[in-house]
Amino acid sequence: MNLDGGPRRGFFLTLEGPEGSGKSTQARRLAARLTASGLTCVVTREPGGTALGEAVRRILLHAPEPSPVPAADALLFNAARAQLAAEVIEPALERGEVVICDRFGDSTLAYQGFGAGQPLEALRSLAHFAVGDLRPDLTVLIDLPAEEGLARKQADEVTRFEERADLEFHRRVRDGFLALAAAEPDRFVIVDGRQTVEAIEAAVFEALRPRLGSGHPDGQVPARTVAVAPEAPPLDSSEPERNPVRMDR
Ligand code: TYD
Repeated sequence: MNLDGGPRRGFFLTLEGPEGSGKSTQARRLAARLTASGLTCVVTREPGGTALGEAVRRILLHAPEPSPVPAADALLFNAARAQLAAEVIEPALERGEVVICDRFGDSTLAYQGFGAGQPLEALRSLAHFAVGDLRPDLTVLIDLPAEEGLARKQADEVTRFEERADLEFHRRVRDGFLALAAAEPDRFVIVDGRQTVEAIEAAVFEALRPRLGSGHPDGQVPARTVAVAPEAPPLDSSEPERNPVRMDR
């Protein structure tokens, strides 16, 4: 169902995981596979994916000291999320497209909740205020130990969350993601992020494939739509690979 209570035709997949789990790479690879099989995909990310969201992203990831308090973080992530849902995700789902989102609401529960100690129920209420009942059809958690993920991050990928949060924070985040997955086994699939990129790609695809047909009466994947995915916001040159991409060209 969509925000207005009407039927929804697309499929909403989110990729989640601790730092350095390779979600962005997997989002692109999955979209390429789905596009090759005739589906129209929108790849986007949080925070970001809209002009407002990318501006909020710059504030969030590179905020000067003193750092935003956890409640301010939660509000800002959800401000970006509300815009992304209304501007990009819901319209694409209405058009019957596959939306692949690199992080979504579970990241706020893991980082601001399990990591920074904000109450989960308050964060859930806030997310509901931001996006209503919009909920992923499938969430793939690419899991790996916090220290391994942090070690993988390149210098130019380092944000406030790696610079100013300690290893214990990132361990709580990882454990938080695993707890969220355990609580909702129907929505989550956990993939071992220590595998090769190719093996993770195959596992993500296998998690998705049986579910894609289920929303369609004949069990087939929907035919390629003629709808055009939303324009990507202006490129942030410091993060060239991480902006939303159109996969329907
Ligand atoms: P990014 O560089 O995109 O990290 P990654 O490649 O691991 O996704 O930065 C996003 C950062 O924001 C990351 O440290 C996780 C954090 N974050 C939150 O703390 N709360 C949230 O709700 C979201 C979406 C992200």
